[in-house]
Amino acid sequence: MNIHESEKAAGIFESLGYSETSDEKEADLILFNTCCIRDNAEQRALGNIGAVKKYKKINKNLIIAVMGCMTQQDGMGNTLREKYPYVDIVIGTNNLDKLEEFIISCRNNHKKKIVEIDPNDRPEIKENEKVYRTSGTNAWLNIMYGCNNFCTYCIVPYVRGRERSRSIENVLAEFKDLINQGYKEITLLGQNVNSYGNDLNDGTSFAKLLKEIDKIEGKFRVRFMTSHPKDLNDEVIDIIANSKNICKNIHLPIQSGSNKILKLMNRHYTREYYLSVIEKIKAKMPECGITTDLMVGFPYEEEEDFLDTLDIVNKVGYSSAFTFIYSIRKGTKAALMPQVPYKVSQDRIMRLIKAQNEKTKEISHLFEGRVFEVLVEDIVEKKPGYVCGRTDNGRLVTFLGSSDLIGSFVNVKIEKSQSASLYGTLIKE
Ligand code: 5AD
Ligand code: SF4
Repeated sequence: MNIHESEKAAGIFESLGYSETSDEKEADLILFNTCCIRDNAEQRALGNIGAVKKYKKINKNLIIAVMGCMTQQDGMGNTLREKYPYVDIVIGTNNLDKLEEFIISCRNNHKKKIVEIDPNDRPEIKENEKVYRTSGTNAWLNIMYGCNNFCTYCIVPYVRGRERSRSIENVLAEFKDLINQGYKEITLLGQNVNSYGNDLNDGTSFAKLLKEIDKIEGKFRVRFMTSHPKDLNDEVIDIIANSKNICKNIHLPIQSGSNKILKLMNRHYTREYYLSVIEKIKAKMPECGITTDLMVGFPYEEEEDFLDTLDIVNKVGYSSAFTFIYSIRKGTKAALMPQVPYKVSQDRIMRLIKAQNEKTKEISHLFEGRVFEVLVEDIVEKKPGYVCGRTDNGRLVTFLGSSDLIGSFVNVKIEKSQSASLYGTLIKE
């Protein structure tokens, strides 16, 4: 989501005549697109903003701007104004459309500071945004914005507002345009894609969107993120299973394997329900790559709750997992709950990572000796002569090949696996 938002900001820069530089000392404009989902993301953003102050001495016309989730938090606009006075522009998550106007205004009067954070939690969706795409064969496509779920640990609903879906016509038009431009993989984005359309009250649903997308002619792949387990229904699972272009690859964050913790997190499902969804996916799509997000150290988490999470890791067999230590976020319900000591969380995350790594290795091993269709994405910079790409179910494969393969679908025989990485040989037609 953030990468795509940066691409939208870069689209505005490009239209204003800016071009990319790899040397930040040379920049006339530096924009930080921030995240505040965990404290370390926020601290890193603030540290990076602090580190560019020195460039203002070299280039008096340098414009420094900050946008994204962090700016939208209560009081952050003032903090940035007071503690980072050299920042020229601060905009909230709803104000991207004004970035162009603000940059022009700053260029005309460099002393001007602009802080604009719109508190509206249902801002209108902007269409026809300029996008400077940076993601090679894949293109990101927003189908909706915001979140209604209020998981008790999460800051997102506070900084991104309520769910707003784009119309199915606009999504399909952008989708077709991207395919016509030559993108081979489109990733549909939403905080919870499964509730796409609920706010439109016109019968639009994620299932309907997937069905329409599957009617589009051509050879391409469709991925989506993220799905909330409470909303991933049988109809969607069936559509994916029977589709020609939708990848058998589902990111289904469970967060915790303990029913007690899931309730405290306000997740609206139990471990049993989650496992029943996984069973359905596996029954319909035995090759489906399933990934997840896992959190340790949530308030009230005891050893037995953590063991329930480890048990889920062993039962499901995720091809990979994002693992996090719970981070207290001001303004959320969980911030008021008793906190687990950091040392305990640290010990648990190490054990969790170890368990998942073992599982990843085990699953990777099953790929050896088999042939998979791979969409070639890029060259491997550290391994001259090699390229890499993904299988339909989301596994990264490296093999000997030239850059002219990028963007094509090829068959690769997997020779070897090393934890999450697969190595193969190209099968010549
Ligand atoms: N602390 C740690 N991890 C968090 N996530 C969301 N909020 C927090 C938090 N306060 C994780 C969840 C979510 C992923 C995007 O980030 O696992 O699925
Ligand atoms: Fe955060 Fe929960 Fe919404 Fe995901 S579903 S963005 S974790 S509140």
